[in-house]
Amino acid sequence: MKKEHFTSRTAVILAFAGSAIGLGNLWRFPYMVGEYGGAAFILTYIVACFVLSIPVFLAEAVIGRSTGKNAVGAIKEITDKPFWKIFGYLSILTPLIICSYYSVVGGWSLDFLARSAVFQFNRTDPVAAEGIFGTLISGTWAPLLCHFLFLTLACLVLSLGVKDGIGKFSKTCMPILFIMVVAIAAFSISLPGSHAGIDYLLRPDFSKISAKTFAYALGQAFYSLSLGMGINITYSSYIEKKEKLSVTAAGTAIADLVFALIAGFAIMPAVFAAGIQPSAGPGLLFQTLPYIFSSASETVPIIASIVSILFFLSILIAALTSAISLLEVGIAWLVEEKGWSRKKAIAAVFSFCWLIGIFCSLSFGDLSGLKIFGNTIFEALDKFCSNFLLIIGGFLTAVLVGWKMDKEKVFNELTQNGEDKKAVRIFNLVYYAIKYVAPIAIGIIFLTNFIA
Ligand code: TRP
Repeated sequence: MKKEHFTSRTAVILAFAGSAIGLGNLWRFPYMVGEYGGAAFILTYIVACFVLSIPVFLAEAVIGRSTGKNAVGAIKEITDKPFWKIFGYLSILTPLIICSYYSVVGGWSLDFLARSAVFQFNRTDPVAAEGIFGTLISGTWAPLLCHFLFLTLACLVLSLGVKDGIGKFSKTCMPILFIMVVAIAAFSISLPGSHAGIDYLLRPDFSKISAKTFAYALGQAFYSLSLGMGINITYSSYIEKKEKLSVTAAGTAIADLVFALIAGFAIMPAVFAAGIQPSAGPGLLFQTLPYIFSSASETVPIIASIVSILFFLSILIAALTSAISLLEVGIAWLVEEKGWSRKKAIAAVFSFCWLIGIFCSLSFGDLSGLKIFGNTIFEALDKFCSNFLLIIGGFLTAVLVGWKMDKEKVFNELTQNGEDKKAVRIFNLVYYAIKYVAPIAIGIIFLTNFIA
């Protein structure tokens, strides 16, 4: 069977951007900024993006495209040592765990879409609107149903296959999302009392930078670009040989960063305007948006309603394109390595994420008393995956390409066999970043995580 490929360069970049841009930018980034030090966190995050994320991204792309395989198959082709096999399996398992709790948040956005479609944010005053979220997540059945529906939607798209499902889906939705986020940022900045939020985003307080800041910023940088766990390996195996990996990596990383920063400007000024605590945690986005929309509806009710519907729709779609990428890794593995039919593979990953997601969803309500090292099930899984597994994954990816692959092969992948002159010029820089800078820096950050 001939392996499916993305049909055009835009389809490639948009599919990568679709995987990268999601709840990580809109939901996770703003609350991480709020919890770990505002502008100081943002600065650390930007440095981590350029110095570590882009080299690791390229390393994953090299593995994926040079082998043309899913994460387990690709790693096996480069080295068959048992240790690396574990890494292969880890990179199938982690995205599925992430998807389990990710789809809980995806479910919230589905619920909020339904609320905006019946104009609920129009009819509530801004302060009361903030409470809508608390009522939703502490319930039992509504969030569970939304979680189930969200996963079902993701699996429906996946059943259409790579080209028609993922590619086309991302192509239409990303630009709409971008326009909506910019519009909301503009409104949020215009709210009375928002300047404190802008200050918070722009004036770094360096005393807030600690070892934890680095670990969390790096975790967020990997999370946001979908790194460290075989997703870009799998997606890169769908890229045709004629595409330049450097363009894909730079395009995706920049689009992802811009989205996160604009999302910060959409949320944080409103957080301060509403008097919400910036360190409110995972609920930050969903507490703030109803406030924004109901404030807007006091002056421009019709526009506020339209924007709120379009916005939750675009969050939902961004979340779906990312969830799809999280699930695709497992599916590609089951189909290519285990010979399963695509349908059966989709059913299997669906069941896995649904079951684990149930516990994550309930951990905001009925199971909120159950703590693992002081964290709810949801928080524990998120921290364990992002600050631990993704960082280890990024480290191993860099080591694999820097130390286990022939330099010449890496050169050929990254420079189109020497034809891409721009890539040839920066090849050494990128190669040494992959071989030395990334493993050493990631290793140190990982270890300080335990000491601090
Ligand atoms: N990057 C996505 C986001 O920002 C989430 C995501 C998709 C992800 N695939 C991933 C995170 C793989 C870690 C690993 O929403």
